[in-house]
Amino acid sequence: MDVPSPGYPFILTVTPTRLELRETGPSAAGSIYVDFAGGTAEHRRRFGGGRGQPLARAIGLKGGATPSVLDATAGLGRDAFVLACLGCKVHLLERSPVAGALLQDGLKRASTDPEIGAMVRERMTLSFGDALAFMHQIGELARPEVIYLDPMYPPRSKSAMVKKEMRAFHALVGKDEDAPALLETALKCARKRVVVKRPRLADAIAGPKPSMSIEGKNTRFDVYLIPANS
Ligand SMILES: C[S@@+](CC[C@H](N)C(=O)[O-])C[C@H]1O[C@@H](n2cnc3c(N)ncnc32)[C@H](O)[C@@H]1O
Repeated sequence: MDVPSPGYPFILTVTPTRLELRETGPSAAGSIYVDFAGGTAEHRRRFGGGRGQPLARAIGLKGGATPSVLDATAGLGRDAFVLACLGCKVHLLERSPVAGALLQDGLKRASTDPEIGAMVRERMTLSFGDALAFMHQIGELARPEVIYLDPMYPPRSKSAMVKKEMRAFHALVGKDEDAPALLETALKCARKRVVVKRPRLADAIAGPKPSMSIEGKNTRFDVYLIPANS
């Protein structure tokens, strides 16, 4: 049934099976929800290239290593799920209450799935709040080996090519203006490396130069290695 729009750009809806974000208006995107057990997440789990894919190489999953990862900009958890499937323990942080609620709902459903449930329960944890504050107050013993940052960047100029759902998610969480501060703080907090996801041709985040970059088809991962004993 179509619900008349009362002037809100989004409606957060509880359906019998999941929590969904629905955009309103004539050119609305399809519903946004988190589904780790099916759809693109399942496809990426089965056919995404395993430890050879650019994200895994950037995080440092070489030779059987499975570092602990703080995903400080968790969004809808897609990258975090890939890393968890590859063996990493991932702590997800999200500051948007709506994105956080969608993510929590997705994790809850995934945790009871017969195929991925045990892995999700063991390897994925979620906290709500701002990553800057979180990293500032983290204790020495809790410092993660790797911090992963994927701040929102402006939609590409060929905006017709940007998927409607991405555009809607962008409108919901807004621009991440604090990316340089996140990087600066992450570099003090991570034990081994900080990895930043960028569009392939975009500038690096303002701050120190990356130690190396790993390119995917549309994406680049800038890797900042932390000197030993820091
Ligand atoms: C591009 S999305 C991340 C997408 C995610 N990598 C995925 O695979 O679904 C960026 C997310 O980071 C969140 N974010 C940005 N800055 C943050 C901060 N300082 N603390 C916590 N979350 C932040 C935004 O709310 C947004 O949901």
